[in-house]
Amino acid sequence: MRYPDGMTSGSSFYARRLAQPGAVLAPMAGYSDAPMRQLAAEQGALWTVSEMISARGLVLGGESEKLTLGRPYPGETRRVVQLFGAEPDILAQAVTRAEAWFAPAALDLNMGCPVPKVRGRGGACLLQTPEVAYALVQAMRGATRLDVSAKIRLGWDTDRSVEIAQGLAAAGAALITVHGRTSAQRYTGEADWEAIARVAASVAVPVIGSGDVRSAEQARARLQAGVAAVMIGRGAVGNPWVFRALATGDGAAPGVRERARTALRHARLHAAFYGPDRSGLPSMRPLRKVLPQYLPEQPELRDTLVQVNTVEDVERALAPFLAPEPWAGEHEEAVAASAM
Ligand SMILES: Cc1cc2nc3c(=O)[nH]c(=O)nc-3n(C[C@H](O)[C@H](O)[C@H](O)COP(=O)(O)O)c2cc1C
Repeated sequence: MRYPDGMTSGSSFYARRLAQPGAVLAPMAGYSDAPMRQLAAEQGALWTVSEMISARGLVLGGESEKLTLGRPYPGETRRVVQLFGAEPDILAQAVTRAEAWFAPAALDLNMGCPVPKVRGRGGACLLQTPEVAYALVQAMRGATRLDVSAKIRLGWDTDRSVEIAQGLAAAGAALITVHGRTSAQRYTGEADWEAIARVAASVAVPVIGSGDVRSAEQARARLQAGVAAVMIGRGAVGNPWVFRALATGDGAAPGVRERARTALRHARLHAAFYGPDRSGLPSMRPLRKVLPQYLPEQPELRDTLVQVNTVEDVERALAPFLAPEPWAGEHEEAVAASAM
């Protein structure tokens, strides 16, 4: 069999992708949806990870999840589906369903989400009872031939990351991502990359480091922690070009026109993927927090972009920065000639 990325069968998805340079798009609930993943993948992200999906919801919740969180965009190939849950049999069934519905490249277990509604059912809660997580990984592995990985924080309120990573590797995790904060820290303080380095040195499986990487330069510096690659989350919102810089070495900063065009493309991908809402039109509301981040140097656009409802609103707001109309050059020439 030939794989789209030119590798042969037999090696795991993660091993194949890690043979290339580049960085990984982080799972981010409310952000790493199909349109964001598509833009990151086009710019060379090694792989992308879906927003977390409840294993229970997937198994017991009918078909609703099929339509949004897990659904791939047409042609999506390098997308890992992240599941959260706490019951091995449910996780195993969720893996089977995710594989049938979502065509994932690999499956990942969420062990880092500190949001209360998730805690009782898994997420970072598993850092307090890691033996449950080991059983979950074993159950997931038993349900698929795809790679199974886990994404952890350093611990619940103290750093237990080496012990937990070793347990996960022994349970069969093909890769471990470490967000260098405890669950108690949530997103405060700075990610502890020394702790991430200790994990990378203590397990034989690849470790991906996550936390506070905002630029290609920072990503390159973080590789010194001995990680196989870095994951980028918040730093990739409105900035898919960070993946191009790391995949190809082309660190050229996009100009305002490319930024504006990509923001508009994001809006169009969003409309195409989600389709009309109850009002009969695709809603841009979920993008209100994202679009201004494409144009950090145009703060004057912010007020308009945080109020958009339709693709047309987005286009109108960005119009001054999109490509000039074909006759604009002629107009400029005419103005220049008349000034002579
Ligand atoms: C809004 C938001 C949503 C997130 N959702 C998830 C998630 O669904 N699953 C997960 O494993 N991590 C999630 N994370 C954590 C990120 O994947 C990442 O580990 C963390 O943000 C640190 O990386 P960063 O500084 O590059 O953003 C989320 C983070 C943010 C900010």
